[in-house]
Amino acid sequence: MKITIEKADRSELKAKPDENNLGFGSYFSDHMFVMDYADGVWQNGVIKKYGDFSIDPAAMALHYGQAIFEGLKAYRGKDNQIHLFRPKDNLARFNRSARRMCMPEVDIDLVYGGIKKLLEIDQEWVPSALGATLYIRPTMIATEAALGVRPSKRYIFFTILSPVGAYYPEGFNPVKIFVTDKYVRAVRGGVGEAKTAGNYAASIMAAIEAQEQGFTQVLWLDACDRQSIEEVGTMNIFFVIGDELITPPLQGSILPGITRESVLTLTRDWGLKVVERPITIDEVFAANEQGQLKEVFGSGTAAIISPVGSLYYKGQECRINGSKTGELSQRLFDDLQAIQYGYKEDHHGWVETI
Ligand code: COI
Repeated sequence: MKITIEKADRSELKAKPDENNLGFGSYFSDHMFVMDYADGVWQNGVIKKYGDFSIDPAAMALHYGQAIFEGLKAYRGKDNQIHLFRPKDNLARFNRSARRMCMPEVDIDLVYGGIKKLLEIDQEWVPSALGATLYIRPTMIATEAALGVRPSKRYIFFTILSPVGAYYPEGFNPVKIFVTDKYVRAVRGGVGEAKTAGNYAASIMAAIEAQEQGFTQVLWLDACDRQSIEEVGTMNIFFVIGDELITPPLQGSILPGITRESVLTLTRDWGLKVVERPITIDEVFAANEQGQLKEVFGSGTAAIISPVGSLYYKGQECRINGSKTGELSQRLFDDLQAIQYGYKEDHHGWVETI
């Protein structure tokens, strides 16, 4: 399939927002990349002016939630070049989500080509301000008009671009996290490891209740034992206890983060003791009491590395490292960004320059 290009008129292009005041996900670039799926094939690939879709009120995504997405970023790096970080890993995960949700896979090379073309057309939207990036959101929704519960026969794939700053209002400052044992996000055998819209919908009520009490985010526990730590929902989670870096294993209910995998690779390269194993919230609090809990941080595309200053669970607060950013969080944040922006050598073939 050849992707058609229909550029917006110059007069239709939008004014760019202030790069130092972007927030997260409030602005969208001038173009989008769209394809349709019908009769068993992807077709009508086009890059066109950003705008509304028209979909039937019976479109299946609206009723039964066949909707998946990805999040990756374009960085304006050294020499003014545009870099992408592990883009094909995101697209491979997109296809895994598609399989789990009984949706059609996409051709990774074709979609990557379309995203690169979209970025070329909207290249002026890649911010230059430090810490600002162009967030790329590939998405697929079921569009067949039908009310029977079964896989849709029609889909729209689209990619939109949004210039963003830090995901959390705290920026890189430590966040306060509420540990919930009242709500659960996902369960093994469910769809927790797929990047599907319903996982995020399921998280909203707990997030609102946490925010009302002054917390930035929620830490989820295993849905069955309500003890083993899972993830934050917008990021995976890591603990430094003694001289070990610990993160929960991928057992089906947490998202296999690309940044999570990059953190594991970098820290193993640095010779740290890194363990993927189940870890309970009681163990974390006990380690803190014994002075063994050195750092906690989250990792994600949107959040990058986000130090955790405190965890709040069953009325108890666990303050970590005096609520200051830890050494390892800082090193990971600096190194990952330096690699992503092209200021530090990429020994893993993660960065694509376009
Ligand atoms: C990301 O880190 O890219 C995410 O998808 C998290 C969130 C913004 C939904």
